[in-house]
Amino acid sequence: MTEPEPSGAQPAGLTLGQIDAQWEAFSSEIADAQRPEKLEQLRVKYLGRKSPAAAGLKQLGVLPPEQRAALGKRLNVFKVEVERRLAEAAQRASAATSRTAGPDLTLPGDAPAAGRLHPITQTMQAILDCFVPMGFEVVEGPEIEYEFYNFDALNIPKDHPSREAFDTFFVDAPTDRPREGARLLRSHTSPVQIRAMQRRRPPLRIVVPGRVWRPDPLDASHSFMFHQVEGLMVDSRVTFADLKGILSAFLTRYFGPGTATRFRPHFFPFTEPSAEVDIACSACRGHGCSTCEQKGWIEILGCGMVHPNVFKAVGYPADRVQGFAFGMGVERLCMLKYGIRDIRVFFENDLRVLEQFQ
Ligand code: PHE
Repeated sequence: MTEPEPSGAQPAGLTLGQIDAQWEAFSSEIADAQRPEKLEQLRVKYLGRKSPAAAGLKQLGVLPPEQRAALGKRLNVFKVEVERRLAEAAQRASAATSRTAGPDLTLPGDAPAAGRLHPITQTMQAILDCFVPMGFEVVEGPEIEYEFYNFDALNIPKDHPSREAFDTFFVDAPTDRPREGARLLRSHTSPVQIRAMQRRRPPLRIVVPGRVWRPDPLDASHSFMFHQVEGLMVDSRVTFADLKGILSAFLTRYFGPGTATRFRPHFFPFTEPSAEVDIACSACRGHGCSTCEQKGWIEILGCGMVHPNVFKAVGYPADRVQGFAFGMGVERLCMLKYGIRDIRVFFENDLRVLEQFQ
């Protein structure tokens, strides 16, 4: 831009010196121009229709040829350079904007989705929380069990219908091992009580939570897999009064005071005498409805005094120890407490259901 001026090449309107002055002015203005509007203003000021450069171009036609060439060439260089600097400045400005337009640290963050305990786990814990303060210890055992623990030691004879293949999920062929028998998915958590008694001497107070399997077809109230909490108390003197006192305390604590309960005689091979415990149906308050099948009562657990044959099977002196046992279905208790009508909702993993349990 500062090449020597050809002597005598002073055009009438715009001079080469004035073009240089324009360039100086433009250079200093663009040095601190950043915003796109400012750059556009500069383009209009230095190259627009009313700019000195535009006036200079218009003049060219009337100039003598040698002046025309010099001025034309200088104006052209001026124009190209101004455009180049404007483009550079625009590029710098947009790079700077995208740097500052990174993450907006003032926006609220994305909270990670927090998990929560499954309603069945929560119910299981609530049940255990009632027994632990009464001196019961939580014990767990294998889900794949031997026939001996699931049946024989519990005084369930070989010809009992629950030992048929259609009532139990067997893992082995029936005759694999002579003593422990075949393996199966346990049909209750009672075998864990046998294992605990084999390991320890009385007194004993345990509660046994866990998963159990029975090949029931899936419907609103049956699932081939569900959860139980069973319990056992053994000491030198334990009576049916203890059983009733402890289970009543549990029921009041779990369902709230004022929940009517009844103990009804029943049969289990591993207890004698045995009972089933019902609570008054909370949906109809004992009048009879579809939830309680018009009975007014809902069965929630089985219990009884441990059968002497069970003590014998684990090597306890049946004449010197007494005990009671009980077992309940966790799904059923959860359904009753929250008014859930279909057991399948627990296992479908539909978050709209599960998220309702804090
Ligand atoms: N084991 C029984 C069942 O699964 C429940 C039960 C346990 C009943 C202890 C009485 C005593 O149905």
